Amino acid sequence: MSTSEAKTEKPWGGRFTESTDAFVEAFTASVAFDRRLAPYDIQGSIAHATMLAEVGVLTGEERGAIVDGLNAILAEIEAGQFPWSVSLEDVHMNVEARLTDRIGLAGKKLHTGRSRNDQVATDVRLWLRAEIDALINEVKRLQEGVIGVAEREAESIMPGFTHLQTAQPVTFGHHLLAWNEMLERDRGRLADCRKRLNRSPLGAAALAGTTYPIDRARTAQLLGFDGPTENSLDSVSDRDFAIEFTAAASVIMMHLSRMSEELILWASAQFNFIDLPDRFCTGSSIMPQKKNPDVPELVRGKSGRVFGHLIGLLTLMKGQPLAYNKDNQEDKEPLFDTVDNLFGSLRAFADMVPALIVKREVTREAAMRGFSTATDLADYLVRKGVPFRDAHEIVGSAVRLGVDTGRDLSEMKLDELRGFSEAIGADVFEVLTLEGSVAARDHIGGTAPNQVRAACARARALLGEG
Ligand code: ARG
Repeated sequence: MSTSEAKTEKPWGGRFTESTDAFVEAFTASVAFDRRLAPYDIQGSIAHATMLAEVGVLTGEERGAIVDGLNAILAEIEAGQFPWSVSLEDVHMNVEARLTDRIGLAGKKLHTGRSRNDQVATDVRLWLRAEIDALINEVKRLQEGVIGVAEREAESIMPGFTHLQTAQPVTFGHHLLAWNEMLERDRGRLADCRKRLNRSPLGAAALAGTTYPIDRARTAQLLGFDGPTENSLDSVSDRDFAIEFTAAASVIMMHLSRMSEELILWASAQFNFIDLPDRFCTGSSIMPQKKNPDVPELVRGKSGRVFGHLIGLLTLMKGQPLAYNKDNQEDKEPLFDTVDNLFGSLRAFADMVPALIVKREVTREAAMRGFSTATDLADYLVRKGVPFRDAHEIVGSAVRLGVDTGRDLSEMKLDELRGFSEAIGADVFEVLTLEGSVAARDHIGGTAPNQVRAACARARALLGEG
């Protein structure tokens, strides 16, 4: 990028008598990062020029020259041949100056009835809307993977945990469907944020609107917005949509981080519940035996920077009086970084989850070891007329014996169990098995394999609805 143009080249240079300090020029410029908005800036300008021609502010000929010029500039940008200039500050002035270079007088008329303030607010909304659509698709792709594994592992037994202590047996499929619920809410949050974002600030101009007979509903329509924003001051200063999006992104990253934590635990030699395929892991340069779960670890780590961006954007906005302030230029890098890291994390998960290998014997063994059917024995005693508190006490004594003799409840003799309570009969072994335990939780939201399969079908249907 070149930095050494004369002062007169600045589109706003008319009232200035000395050129910008070279450091200040670089310090205040945003083109190094906001050039990413160029396709949306051009889209917004084409809509604006089209509307101006329709209301008679531009001629049809001028509009034609502007649209052709902007399309040529887009091609130039895509080909990497656009002469970006730091002295032209930002993407908006770079594109506009180039347009005037190419088409002359008509290019100078494009900025009639608008300002960079409503322009940038429009550009960021258009860009973020497209990113949200892509992110929603990526969440969906991950959900499809999660539901697929849930269905495959609908009968696989694992210990369910509370306090990370073995609690009750669950099916692996049931556990994964808990992940799917998180993702389903995440998808809803993105869609919800998109709704509020989808209004057009174009026409608010610098802050107070414009004296030209503009048609804001028309530009909103041309750009696929649901309609124009209501108040011009709010339109140029509002960044709620960016904050809402980053909040939704933070919740997704928090969820992915929790999933990562589980994958990392499960892949450890101590748990040994799953195998992560080699292509999602890396080795150690010094310890030859190592296979590290780098992908989930990195996703867990990236959650921190996304949360940071949320706090950064809230802090960016909290002290700003109406309307536009240059502070707002600082909204872009956190947003871009949030989108890039969220997208990368979702993509890594969507690729990795379907390839998880569940070690069913190990997870079953682990459920067996932790007396996970103790609650089932207590419930059995209650069904035989024993008050729950007494049943709890009886089972506690049986577990004590199990701990002392290294056996699960299902491995004890009937006589031994009857020693704890006369109410116990030969049918007790049906409830002490892991399969019996999960099958008995046979209601909506329960872990029984047939409930897991039904829940998978419902989850798939929701994905199909959009
Ligand atoms: N680069 C600026 C931004 O990102 C564009 C708007 C500049 N407006 C202004 N009045 N200086 O916010």
